[in-house]
Amino acid sequence: MALAEFLASLDSLAQAARTDFANATDPAVLETARVAYLGAKAGKLRDAQKGLGTMPPADKPAAGKRFNEVKVAIESAFVAAQERLTSGKTATFQAFDVTLPGRAKRLGHLHPITQTIRSMKEIMGRLGFSAVEGPEIEDEWHNFEALNIPLIHPARDPLDNFYLSVAHASTNGDTVGEPTSPTPLLLRSQTSTVQIRVMETTPPPVRIISLGRVYRPDTADATHYPMFHQIEGLLVDRGVTMADLKSVLRLFCQSYFGGDDEVHIRFRPSFFPFTEPSVEVDMNWQGGWMEMGGAGMVDPNVLRAVGYDPDEVTGFAFGLGVERVCMRQHGITDIRALYQNDVRFLEQF
Ligand code: DAH
Repeated sequence: MALAEFLASLDSLAQAARTDFANATDPAVLETARVAYLGAKAGKLRDAQKGLGTMPPADKPAAGKRFNEVKVAIESAFVAAQERLTSGKTATFQAFDVTLPGRAKRLGHLHPITQTIRSMKEIMGRLGFSAVEGPEIEDEWHNFEALNIPLIHPARDPLDNFYLSVAHASTNGDTVGEPTSPTPLLLRSQTSTVQIRVMETTPPPVRIISLGRVYRPDTADATHYPMFHQIEGLLVDRGVTMADLKSVLRLFCQSYFGGDDEVHIRFRPSFFPFTEPSVEVDMNWQGGWMEMGGAGMVDPNVLRAVGYDPDEVTGFAFGLGVERVCMRQHGITDIRALYQNDVRFLEQF
């Protein structure tokens, strides 16, 4: 090939490469162009290098010099195109406005019921009551029998309880030795069960509270939910009276709600199988009476069931609804709101 012709073909190769690299609009197109010109096996520059080998020896220095110039030119055109495509990204990144306010990570917090439970524990702790837990799956002995609730009592109606379809060997407190017949199990319907569990294993005096979930097959509405929480209190010792019960409840309510407003407690006569006498407890706060739950003096039958001597010790017990207290405190009017897990609701507390 004549020298002039070879040099001209090198120049037009450089020109074509510059145009193709400059027109590449994305990295994939640029890569195709790179392979076409700079590809090690079949690139156009590689072909030109082969042509260089066929030049007459006298023309080789000039042809080689131009070949190297064109090679450098094509390579730098490629690098420039590459930078152009990536620097587009840098430009977008630089457009980020660092003066914008940050996106705050939202911290979760305790559910209102958990908050209520914690402050109840704290207040009762100061009154000398220690918090204990009991199982949510119970046998009939702890949920009913030991609490003086006989088999014919309506509270034991299977339709009013969540009985489980499994049973376990009886741990009935009055049997000695081997467990006897299988006993039905249910989700506990009241935290009074924990009174029995504690007294069975601890000699008097006892001074406990138990806070936890209880279950009843109620249809959910503004004031009912099939699962809710109770706080149960129990004090057994020598010479305990109803005056002690009323004082403890008043101090508890005063500490929980009180502040500067005085809180009053009212007892209305009632009936519970496990207390005698029994009362409904109402609390007056900010001009309104609110039902808190039930209470009374522990029935001698209950003391006997756990092996205590009713002639030696007496006790009081109470059971209050945690949701009720929490709802009254925050002005919540529908219990279901507590269990829908709507953060717009929950984050207010
Ligand atoms: N267990 C009762 C209920 O769920 C509440 C209650 C009433 C608990 C009187 C007590 C009590 O300890 O003395 O309705």
